[in-house]
Amino acid sequence: MGHVTAEDLFSADAVIVGSPVYWSNMSGEVKTFFDNWQFKFGVFPEYKMKDKVGAAFATGGQVSSGKEVTMLTILAAMLGNQMIVVSGGGAFGASATTEGDSLGINDQELSDAKALGQRVADVTKLIRGGSAQ
Ligand SMILES: Cc1cc2nc3c(=O)[nH]c(=O)nc-3n(C[C@H](O)[C@H](O)[C@H](O)COP(=O)(O)O)c2cc1C
Repeated sequence: MGHVTAEDLFSADAVIVGSPVYWSNMSGEVKTFFDNWQFKFGVFPEYKMKDKVGAAFATGGQVSSGKEVTMLTILAAMLGNQMIVVSGGGAFGASATTEGDSLGINDQELSDAKALGQRVADVTKLIRGGSAQ
């Protein structure tokens, strides 16, 4: 996360942010990344991320222990920046369960992640004035 520059953010048409679930929410490092949009990159008051497409993905150790909250809080930070948020893969984005009986990222989870990436690309094209495919 520390490697993303202002130039990376402001030159992008779309941004997909992922986080591990830490205590039922995005990790502190990912939250700091969003906070740095203001502290380091000065997104406000001009809303410099306005109308860029945004999406979220998450990995969590357990099946039902914070992945959806994590994706929704990532999307909430994007909405606060007046970005256009989209889903794909799952209802709030792509996610994977990585511990217990579901170690790592399986084929279904990987294909959900690809579906999210495709939807972000398609919607970005629509917004930029092109056609979806
Ligand atoms: C501090 C900490 C808190 C965590 N809290 C949760 C949690 O609340 N729910 C959950 O499902 N997994 C939790 N996990 C497990 C991680 O979400 C999981 O291992 C994740 O896949 C790690 O992603 P990474 O390999 O990209 O770091 C936690 C892990 C750590 C280190």
